[in-house]
Amino acid sequence: MKRMILAPSMMCADMMNVERDLRLLEEEGIELLHIDVMDGGFVPNIALGLDWIRQLGRITAVPFDIHLMVTDADMKLDWIPFREGDFVSLHPEACIHVQRALSTLRKKGVHPGLSLNPSTGLSVLEYLLDDLDYVNIMSVNPGFAGQPLIPACLKKVSDLKRLLEERGREDILIEMDGHVSPETAPKMLEAGATILVGGTGSVFAKGRSLKENIRIMKKLVE
Ligand code: DX5
Ligand code: ZN
Repeated sequence: MKRMILAPSMMCADMMNVERDLRLLEEEGIELLHIDVMDGGFVPNIALGLDWIRQLGRITAVPFDIHLMVTDADMKLDWIPFREGDFVSLHPEACIHVQRALSTLRKKGVHPGLSLNPSTGLSVLEYLLDDLDYVNIMSVNPGFAGQPLIPACLKKVSDLKRLLEERGREDILIEMDGHVSPETAPKMLEAGATILVGGTGSVFAKGRSLKENIRIMKKLVE
């Protein structure tokens, strides 16, 4: 059976009751929390400030998967309140010194990753495999929760899986971010993704509790 790491997207949590949501996620055995950082420049939205992330890090031991949707992330890594063992990804579309940024993250004791927009090809990874622990294939254009899936991104995941197999680098994890749902998740897992970001279509879907939503997702891999 396939392994799935479900990473709830905290921008979709109830911001007036974040700690309540966090404790429910912990009770359900969530292993990773996806944290979107948006700068209103690279993406047309602003989300999850650094002090908020710092405070969240003080009240939970669950590792973060910090998704930096910011320009020049390579120049801003010292600002990011990650903890050792966290996952941190940045966008090569918005960063000049990508390899330097990834190696800085590695030195700081976090798992370095790249997030790729739907239009970005896999060739950007060609000379970076040694610097990466994971690749986040965006299945929507970054910026907003609740958008429809761009189907070509599923093929990108299977192409990436094949590339990693050819290079003997199956240890590099593949993440999918955007419109993960009980309907799309099986296709994402089948294509080769392991980390699925749970937003408005799954973990935070309206009409059911977080607990029920997580159980529905976990059943997909039982
Ligand atoms: C989109 C963000 C996602 C978002 C996903 O720019 O990176 O993490 O929260 O939300 P859904 O799953 O609703 O598409
Ligand atoms: Zn994200």
